[in-house]
Amino acid sequence: GARESEKLTELAKRRGFFFGSAQAYGGVAGFYTFGPEGAALKRNVESSWREQFTTKLGNEEIEAPTIMPEPVFEASGHLDGFDDMLVECGECGESHRADHLVEDNTDVEEAESLPIPEVEELIAEYGLECPNCGAPLAGREVVDFNLMFETSIGPGSGQPGYLRPETAQGIFVEFPRLKEYARNQLPFGITQVGRAYRNEISPRKGIVRTREFTQAELEQFIDPESDEPPLEDVRDVEVVLYPAVEQEAEDVEYVETTIGDAVDDGTIASDWVAYFLGVAQGWYEEVGVDMDRFRFRQHLAGERAHYASDCWDAEAELGGDWVEIAGFAYRGDYDLSKHEEYGDDSFTVFQQYDEPKTVERAVVDPDMSALGPKFGGQATAVAEALQELADRNPDAFDGDEVTVEVDGEELTVDADVANFGVEEQTESGEHVTPHVVEPSFGVDRTVYTVIAHAYAEDEVAGEQRSFLRLEPEVAPTSVGVFPLLSNAEELTERADAIVDDLRAVGLSVASDESGNIGRRYRRQDEVGTPFCVTVDYEGLEGDGPDTVTLRERDSTGQIRLPVDALVEEVLAVQSG
Ligand code: GAP
Repeated sequence: GARESEKLTELAKRRGFFFGSAQAYGGVAGFYTFGPEGAALKRNVESSWREQFTTKLGNEEIEAPTIMPEPVFEASGHLDGFDDMLVECGECGESHRADHLVEDNTDVEEAESLPIPEVEELIAEYGLECPNCGAPLAGREVVDFNLMFETSIGPGSGQPGYLRPETAQGIFVEFPRLKEYARNQLPFGITQVGRAYRNEISPRKGIVRTREFTQAELEQFIDPESDEPPLEDVRDVEVVLYPAVEQEAEDVEYVETTIGDAVDDGTIASDWVAYFLGVAQGWYEEVGVDMDRFRFRQHLAGERAHYASDCWDAEAELGGDWVEIAGFAYRGDYDLSKHEEYGDDSFTVFQQYDEPKTVERAVVDPDMSALGPKFGGQATAVAEALQELADRNPDAFDGDEVTVEVDGEELTVDADVANFGVEEQTESGEHVTPHVVEPSFGVDRTVYTVIAHAYAEDEVAGEQRSFLRLEPEVAPTSVGVFPLLSNAEELTERADAIVDDLRAVGLSVASDESGNIGRRYRRQDEVGTPFCVTVDYEGLEGDGPDTVTLRERDSTGQIRLPVDALVEEVLAVQSG
């Protein structure tokens, strides 16, 4: 486990995938820079994600600010509820994630879902120590720590704002504009790919848990009564599921099934969630995640975020641990109704009926001779409040008394003063608060998984070789081009011309003239370049058309190919 992550971290740094940022100033935990290879790999993963989750699913992508004012996060619940459990060492002052300490040092899993006093007890019971200095942590207080980075907007004391902890809120707050764009027609989906920020207590495992990272999120807005996903597209997709009931029973590790069966037997409660699991599984496979090291795990009740009623994680096996790489949450109407309540705009969709409906409405015709003497000047307001209550909840009048609020005061009225009549009304439609189903991907974790699952070692010509079996679609470099000798003009000129031709069709090409040819192959193998082209004298000297050798990364097999056929050949592999 540790060995795999050490190897990958070393390779990532040496070959320019990613490394701790600002090392010249000592660096700061939780911030990483993607080097040229990593940035290219990440761009390719993102554009593949966009192609699947935006274009193919018929969704639209937006780009919202990364900083938003405090009221947004008051409404979203992040100000109050977006906390992790922190325990500080009394000896050295280091802060640690209390739930992680418990998980790492006991056989308790998912300590995140436990209440704070229980975590404190576990720390004492197992005699857990500070990982930094070894001092005992028993008796230390575990506290909630809010993960949002706070900032101040504008000069002076400014207005409090926060760096977004998820890209999702940028979609929810713009819902009033987005629903107009969608012409009030459900269902529709909005995506966003961008940075999110969390002041993680203990960033760890390289780019797996950082304080600034990239999310790719889809917010699918649906009418829960009537909108169905095209489930038939994914029914046959084979998945490995780890449902909450199995985790609680602790006897089965996982269930092998299909999306269709998991829906039919109720393992996955929401058709929409099931649909996105199926789509996601296909996409992960396409970008090179190893399906033998991949599963979907359902959240336990106590583990779910404050907005979710059900959630499944995509998990990848990395160095012996299962790591969450995406979450698929049923957010219901939580976010939109919060913004409706706190914000000053409409977060509902007006759904026109096919035909206008005639509905009966209970009309309150209050007995003013009873209300008047009892409430004086407030009597009319009480009558209005009774009508409002009748509209909202006609059952409220079933008992002897009803309570209404007038000017912040609770007033009790005999139920029979309401004197119901019935009136017929025509309605052309209704206001619906859409429900949200959210596939949320961590791009950095996907990139790491793709590298880890592509990593391989073998022996070539008696020498140990490490290489990345990256899918051509995501590989940072599509092809390497080498003149066999760097000091032979005939070869270097020919190689340069080939490089130009390949770049002209949009391929990313590494041209390398230094070192022996084996070393040059090895360098490309380690960054996952699927093919290398070598220009040698043999190919230029014959009677027929000029040829080059094309070497395949995984098999190291080589073929001779006419130069004229090269561009087409590489393009064909590139597009699968
Ligand atoms: N909008 C839903 C949401 O933000 P989440 O499970 O908190 O859900 C979604 O985050 C994904 O973002 C995770 O599955 C993970 O891949 C990624 N992620 C979360 N925190 C991260 C961190 N500190 N560093 C890197 N990636 C992270």
